[in-house]
Amino acid sequence: MKIIQVEDYHDLSIKAAQHIITKIQNEPDLVLGLATGSTPKGAYKQMINDFQKNNTSYRYVKTVNLDEYVGLAKNDINSYFTFMNEHLFNHIDIPYSQTHIPNGMAKDLQTECNNYDKLIHSLGGIDLQLLGIGHNGHIGFNEPYTSFKTRTHIVKLTSSTRYANERFFQHINEVPKYAITMGIQTILESKQILLLISGKDKRKAVHKLLVEQNMSEEFPASSLYDHPHVTIIADKAALSLT
Ligand code: F6R
Repeated sequence: MKIIQVEDYHDLSIKAAQHIITKIQNEPDLVLGLATGSTPKGAYKQMINDFQKNNTSYRYVKTVNLDEYVGLAKNDINSYFTFMNEHLFNHIDIPYSQTHIPNGMAKDLQTECNNYDKLIHSLGGIDLQLLGIGHNGHIGFNEPYTSFKTRTHIVKLTSSTRYANERFFQHINEVPKYAITMGIQTILESKQILLLISGKDKRKAVHKLLVEQNMSEEFPASSLYDHPHVTIIADKAALSLT
């Protein structure tokens, strides 16, 4: 694991965007795995700035998102579909047909999961997967005790994850109880992984990941120890217990 320490969230966003942009410049038809949540928002903003200033093109990039809530319509204000359009896709030149997010409204969710893995396979696999981390070590929506062998699957969200995401909804009752997520095995098959970690509230998770280094399904992010190309960009606050 390569660890890049940065001062704060602003620096993290710049470094993360640079990492992704360099990769796209070298491989214009990259398959880019994307995440939602608070952490990557700054990096997406920097990518948009770069697109406006330097014209880095996403014309041939294909994206696959990690996850989506079950039961939210695409145009729901809290769907990850809406999030990605608002925070990135609407502002760069990527054709929407090349952006992929699991469909949480699919009639047959299991088929949707299987098809999502097939899609990733048909694209040639993920070249670079962007990740954030949950307080409990989740990656994607793979909660503690998820098998490291999982492929895209349906998950019941833990109450800690639902409460962590409550801030985006009017009320906790509105936070969906289920989601579709790439499995840990699906994530680990990405050729490279970029994990972004910011803020004091992630410091215990970072301690577990970088200091305790105990590989266990109880802490999903520990599955990354086995991956040969993981880069972590973390700010000082997140690293404060290391
Ligand atoms: C988002 C995702 C989640 C988040 C994690 C951290 O697509 O898969 O694993 O990366 O919950 O979320 P934030 O960045 O909001 O702290």
